[in-house]
Amino acid sequence: MFQKEVYIRRRSDLKKLVTKGIGLFLGNLETPMNYPDNTYHFRQDSSFLYFFGINHPGLAAVIDFESGEEILFGNDVEIEDIIWMGIQPLLKDKATRVGVEKSFPSEKLNDYLKAAIKLGRPIHFLPQYRGDNKILLGDLLGIHPGQLNQYRSLELIKAIVKLRSIKDAFEIEEIEKACAMGYEMHVTAMKMALSGQTEQMIAGVVESIPYKYGGRISFPVILSQDGQTLHNHYHTGILQKGRLVINDSGAETAMGYASDFTRTIPVDGTFTQKQKEIYQIVLNANNTATQISKPGITYQQVHLQVAKVIAQGLKDVGLMKGDVDAAVKAGAHALFFPHGLGHMMGLDVHDMEDLGQIYVGYDEITRPIDQFGTAYLRLGRKLEPGFVITNEPGIYFIPALIDKWLHEKINHEFINFEKANQYRDFGGIRIEDDLLITETGCRLLGNRIPATVDEVEKTVGMQ
Ligand code: GLY
Ligand code: MN
Ligand code: MN
Repeated sequence: MFQKEVYIRRRSDLKKLVTKGIGLFLGNLETPMNYPDNTYHFRQDSSFLYFFGINHPGLAAVIDFESGEEILFGNDVEIEDIIWMGIQPLLKDKATRVGVEKSFPSEKLNDYLKAAIKLGRPIHFLPQYRGDNKILLGDLLGIHPGQLNQYRSLELIKAIVKLRSIKDAFEIEEIEKACAMGYEMHVTAMKMALSGQTEQMIAGVVESIPYKYGGRISFPVILSQDGQTLHNHYHTGILQKGRLVINDSGAETAMGYASDFTRTIPVDGTFTQKQKEIYQIVLNANNTATQISKPGITYQQVHLQVAKVIAQGLKDVGLMKGDVDAAVKAGAHALFFPHGLGHMMGLDVHDMEDLGQIYVGYDEITRPIDQFGTAYLRLGRKLEPGFVITNEPGIYFIPALIDKWLHEKINHEFINFEKANQYRDFGGIRIEDDLLITETGCRLLGNRIPATVDEVEKTVGMQ
């Protein structure tokens, strides 16, 4: 937990942006796996963490945006709980620790909200993504859980996106810790990438690394020789010489801050000529994004510039043809690069995605582009100092997509399908780094994980 002044300042900044009504923040509850007492790892809600910092289940908080009053709601543990869990901090101590002066038992929240509703005061709440909290909030507000999110507060969402988008120095320090764990996860996977090794063994070792440091994974590990499947969580393969392994994994610190990296590794440490050519295009694309990302440029512009680097590279090896600018305008590169360049990162690996991607990644000036591929770009708006973002271009050969485009003659003037068919068993390559936008440009977060052909080849099999 940060010093309490950090949370007091964040809430005070929020009060400057939302000035009417009451803000209601639900923390998360314990979630059972297979019976009530056998629960998943507890993950606090990120906006609750951001403003109230308390990493305990079963809490809620309100901010009265008019009087400034803040109250934490929750229950103190009973003697039965203490026997199993040991002494737990009291609710009022939890509140004091983050600078909240008032605390009441959970049951009082109902009365508090009823009184506010009776006075006709607006209750601002965020979209809910967990069933239990939807039911709880639905009950509290008298709204059917299925319709609850229609009533979420856009004003509160926009205010929180504004605050959480700009990371302060304490947050960067935490993210750097997540990056250090991510570095070890990726270098370890590279060292293990020898033929005969199982994907599952590498994925399991990668997953264990952040736990050694009191962290955990920031999302389920993606590790596969079938890298053409973008989010491939199956680890059933055995590594074979000549194939590539994509490892897309990251860590989350005990305080909830994430890292998110991808590296693509040649099994046994030698890229084939064909792999090297495609790898170099992706690396050039990744380096281009790092070179041009700075305040003032939109990430949509960076994405499209990167798409041109990819299209030019693919044209140079004979997979694409025609005018590169026209190809990118038509979206032809998306046969090989069918996703966005990156997203915000912070307390969530896809930061604030629960609040609505359109509010996080776009604004009134920069709107999403509704074209296959670019439509998946999660962050498009103008970059600002303090943004933490990912830079993750890739090139994939997805047989089903190649067949579809071939048969439907999609962008056929820009694609050499005969050549593309020679890559049907290639898989995919993605290279992902985490960037902090600075006053003048950007910098990589964490030490750079081996990325060049030479660096990666040397790391595979290293003791
Ligand atoms: N970890 C999924 C992604 O890179 O966005
Ligand atoms: Mn990733
Ligand atoms: Mn990512």
